[in-house]
Amino acid sequence: MNAFINGLPKAELHMHIEGSLEPELMFDLARRNRIALPFASVEAVRAAYAFSNLQDFLDIFYQGAQVLLTEDDFRDLAMAYFRRLADDGGVHAEIFFDPQTHTDRGLPFSVAVDGLLAGMAWAELELGITSKLILCFLRHLPEDAALATLKMAEPWLDRIAGVGLDSSEKGFPPSGFVKVFTAARERGLKLVAHAGEEGPPDYVWEALDLLKVDRIDHGNRALEDGKLIGRLAAEGMTLTVCPLSNLKLCVVDELKVHPLKRMLDLGLKATINSDDPAYFGGYLGQNWTQTATALELSREDLIQLARNSFTGSFLTPEEIGQHLARLDAYTR
Ligand code: ADE
Ligand code: ZN
Repeated sequence: MNAFINGLPKAELHMHIEGSLEPELMFDLARRNRIALPFASVEAVRAAYAFSNLQDFLDIFYQGAQVLLTEDDFRDLAMAYFRRLADDGGVHAEIFFDPQTHTDRGLPFSVAVDGLLAGMAWAELELGITSKLILCFLRHLPEDAALATLKMAEPWLDRIAGVGLDSSEKGFPPSGFVKVFTAARERGLKLVAHAGEEGPPDYVWEALDLLKVDRIDHGNRALEDGKLIGRLAAEGMTLTVCPLSNLKLCVVDELKVHPLKRMLDLGLKATINSDDPAYFGGYLGQNWTQTATALELSREDLIQLARNSFTGSFLTPEEIGQHLARLDAYTR
């Protein structure tokens, strides 16, 4: 089955590029940029990756991102991620970045975005992997800061596919970001938001009704609300689900009880994604294979998940059609 999964053409729709910073690269960049790390070794970094909730993880994730200082750092980070994606049979990725994590440290907005765009261009040329960039607003900061970030991004908006909402969820509902999402929509950007990872079903309703998102990132807790399940299924709303992340952040107790299979059986358009692969112990392929084993996913389930990863993407209908044709050819 693992060989079948590896060969399945698939896309990744929920991956924070700063969350693909492996401890080895963290040390390389710290050395290159003469930054002191609070860890003695790569092993000590990995040992620190034991989280009991989202905030535990975010504290260490924002600390790790501090080694990223130059365009080359961001390009190298993206290149390393795309190499892993190619190994896992990934053919397209829509990657998140958190500009405020970098501009708040004094980096110009251009550093992260230009570095990432260079890595994305390399991936298309060298690996044949296409990608899109999604700018995430940090929800633990005020909406005014998100509005200022959108303004800073103005010169790059032709190369940014959409905006997202991430960071600490509980206590920071989508309703606090209506202005900035409305402004992004008026600029023709796609809209996504983390909702229902730790936060209640109400946050998923708000993301749909107030932010008018095109996809829900995670969405696990939507399953607590029957009416919401009906709404998500009727609209064919894509959920970008992240099984190993859910396990590492204690959203689920074990993969065997992960709701992904239930989501598919309810007719929800779920996809498999890695979220922050360097921190959660697995890239896209590991998320697929470990989840498939734990939930005893059928061949039909796997094909449906691969289809969802393309139909839920921000590619054009023509591009989606080409990917689905390749998928059909592989599974016929
Ligand atoms: N930023 C990086 N990973 C995240 C996650 N899983 N949830 C919210 N914000 C994040
Ligand atoms: Zn995420």
